[in-house]
Amino acid sequence: MTSKEKNIIDSVIYSYTSDSSVLEEENKMLKETLNKMKDELDRLKQPPLMVCEVLDLINNNAVIRIPNGNQFYVTYDHQLKLTVGESVLCDQKNLNIVKKIDTSKKFNVEKFVIVEKPTIKWESVGGLQHQENEIKEVIELPLKKPELFRKIGITPPKGLLLYGPPGTGKTLLAKAVAASSNSTFIEVVGSELVQKFIGEGAKLVKEIFELARKKAPTIIFIDEIDSLAARRVEVGTSGEREANRTFMQLLAEIDGFKSLDDVKIIGATNRKDILDPAIIRPGRLDRLIEVPTPNKEGRKEIFRIHSQTMCLCKDVDVENLINQMDDFSGAEIKAACTEAGYFAIRESRTEIVKKDFLNAIAKVRKEEELNKGDYLRMFG
Ligand SMILES: Nc1ncnc2c1ncn2[C@@H]1O[C@H](COP(=O)(O)OP(=O)(O)OP(=O)(O)O)[C@@H](O)[C@H]1O
Ligand SMILES: [Mg+2]
Repeated sequence: MTSKEKNIIDSVIYSYTSDSSVLEEENKMLKETLNKMKDELDRLKQPPLMVCEVLDLINNNAVIRIPNGNQFYVTYDHQLKLTVGESVLCDQKNLNIVKKIDTSKKFNVEKFVIVEKPTIKWESVGGLQHQENEIKEVIELPLKKPELFRKIGITPPKGLLLYGPPGTGKTLLAKAVAASSNSTFIEVVGSELVQKFIGEGAKLVKEIFELARKKAPTIIFIDEIDSLAARRVEVGTSGEREANRTFMQLLAEIDGFKSLDDVKIIGATNRKDILDPAIIRPGRLDRLIEVPTPNKEGRKEIFRIHSQTMCLCKDVDVENLINQMDDFSGAEIKAACTEAGYFAIRESRTEIVKKDFLNAIAKVRKEEELNKGDYLRMFG
């Protein structure tokens, strides 16, 4: 063999061995990826675990409550060292307690409720003078001058309930008193507390009150409080049980602070008739204030508030318009003003004429009737 031939053979052998080592390397990598994918697949195939609550520990066994509210008596591995009140993960089939979980970590309550410093002035609330005075007495005065109450020796209510038909200014009043007493305003919607935070409603209530104390003076406004505090004949479905737990926590929180602390609660509802009397018992939201559909004087004031920046033509007879809006709520009067403005815009006018208002009133009335129809269809 010539030396040239030997060189060629050597280079072939070299390239063969180096190729095979590359291939081996590649093979190894592929195997690793395959194993990782298999592990991932096994993990994804695992059935989900239930988050349960440990209610009691009896004779080395545990009573747990599963998310739908049913309770079970189960055995468990004692190495877990369970304590009552803890959250655990259970498999769905045999209800074996698989591990403990830490739910003590707080969720960021500010993400779930509206926290603001409203700027609404009393002047922008129309026709509710009597309600305004009462709210000032119950909410604003104790927040601003607690020493006055101490001196006289009386305890002001911890909160009040505003009740009345939709759109009559309940939210507006609550915001106005928050502004006038320079308080933080935390707005919570009862139905959301029950529906959105299944299993967490009670915890959220607790944290809302904690936040309120931190940001005091604070007004906690609970809109649609009836969806939390409805009178129940029996607590049947898991949704009702959930609402009940949240409601109990709310009562506990209200009872837990003193009336001269700088947190006040305002509840609002359209359905006072279905409220659980527990919420309006003395020491709780025991001042009830009705916010009715406005009378003629009230409508006039509300109309003035919402039309004051509009340019009205001389042919607009306010008295006559007010009579046409005889069953309108504040929100509907405001809507009529906005609609009238739109009728003018459509005809490229900046002045609002009588006809615009008449068209607007008819439109708002038609919408109101449609809504009423929907309501009757839904609730009989
Ligand atoms: N008395 C009022 N004075 C001035 N504006 C009012 C009055 N009532 C209602 N409005 C107008 O209607 C809007 C809606 O009113 P608001 O949200 O306060 O009603 P509500 O009573 O809270 O209704 P709901 O029961 O549907 O929550 C207000 O932002 C305001 O512009
Ligand atoms: Mg409201």
